[in-house]
Amino acid sequence: MIKKIQDAKVKKQTVVLRLDLNIPYSNGKSSDISRIEKTKETIHYLINNENKVVILSHFGRPDGKINKDLSLRKLLRYLQETLNLNIKFLPSLEIEMCRKEIIESPFPSIFLLENVRFSKLEEYNDPDFSSKLASLGDVYCNDAFSVSHRAHASTQGITNYLPSFAGFLVQSELKALSLALDKPSKPVTAIVGGSKISTKIELLNNLSDKVDFLVIGGAMANTLLSAQGFGIGKSLTEKKMLKTAEAIIEELESKDCKLVLPMDIICAHALDSTEDADTFSIDCCPIDKMILDIGPVTQKNIMDIVDKSKTVIWNGPLGAFETPPFDKGTNNIAKYVANRTFKKQLISIAGGGDTVSALKQAGSVSRFSYVSTAGGAFLEWLEGKSLPGIESLKL
Ligand code: 3PG
Repeated sequence: MIKKIQDAKVKKQTVVLRLDLNIPYSNGKSSDISRIEKTKETIHYLINNENKVVILSHFGRPDGKINKDLSLRKLLRYLQETLNLNIKFLPSLEIEMCRKEIIESPFPSIFLLENVRFSKLEEYNDPDFSSKLASLGDVYCNDAFSVSHRAHASTQGITNYLPSFAGFLVQSELKALSLALDKPSKPVTAIVGGSKISTKIELLNNLSDKVDFLVIGGAMANTLLSAQGFGIGKSLTEKKMLKTAEAIIEELESKDCKLVLPMDIICAHALDSTEDADTFSIDCCPIDKMILDIGPVTQKNIMDIVDKSKTVIWNGPLGAFETPPFDKGTNNIAKYVANRTFKKQLISIAGGGDTVSALKQAGSVSRFSYVSTAGGAFLEWLEGKSLPGIESLKL
């Protein structure tokens, strides 16, 4: 059981709040501030209860060095605008200095500490650094599910020094994820895409014990198709993974989980030669072309499986969705799952960086039951791993 921030009944205290403000940012602006928007509930709750809030976060991977391009100062305006609150920026990790400033401020106030990864001690999960971060407040709250797979000072080490609780975002992520895998309405279908099977072996193993249908698309399906003896022309594939792919297929056959692979494919000579894109049956892939999307027969087959399902879990696009017309398979399936969810015919949970972009492109995000803010943490959770940042919030 996770300890919840509302159970801590914090009032007029100083709460050290770990957020994940690691948002996409380039050329002076962010293309997606949804992680910031999702911090509202916890921050408003803490401020309405007259607490001081000290926000900790990382931004990018500065490798323990100060890097102006990865300063959290850049994100201050997004936080202030989204929360409609004034936030004081603490520009250095000189914790004693920050502590003084926090103590001298009135209740309620909000502070944003500079990128914790500017210190190498953060990723080392250094006990001394963890206890220094803890010295900034009376209570710790983790509302950064998406970085809770990291055992770092600000996600895990700090919980050894302060009473620690889950924020509202962490609570809703955990609720949604447990709805999908721990006690789902059956049948359950997992749709898994992306380019590399090598990065998803553990995930496939874990899912195959829990789901009824495992739909695989994207370039990772090519490796499985090749292992089944189909010609895949010039398609992206991981030749070194062929034996593993064979083992995965064999393993699935021995389980109560049906593997669903493309039956027809959209191929072209290259990603940018969209004019010669054509549909082929899976046993007729031209030797000089590459597979770039699933075809209409496969889409219909997946839709029929979705019709039978009560729960759908989605990670990874089914084709080269960033380059139309190879986005059709992903878009059509995303819209189909979204509409059935909207009609209350199923529960749909999606997560992972590319997945969220693909669902956004299909205009389907708002109709999914839950779209996780997490990339790596969502994958580790699908792999069945426990997340250190979450484990340390348990009773
Ligand atoms: C993410 O974007 O997935 C999280 O912020 C974690 O970032 P990391 O992979 O750099 O730890």
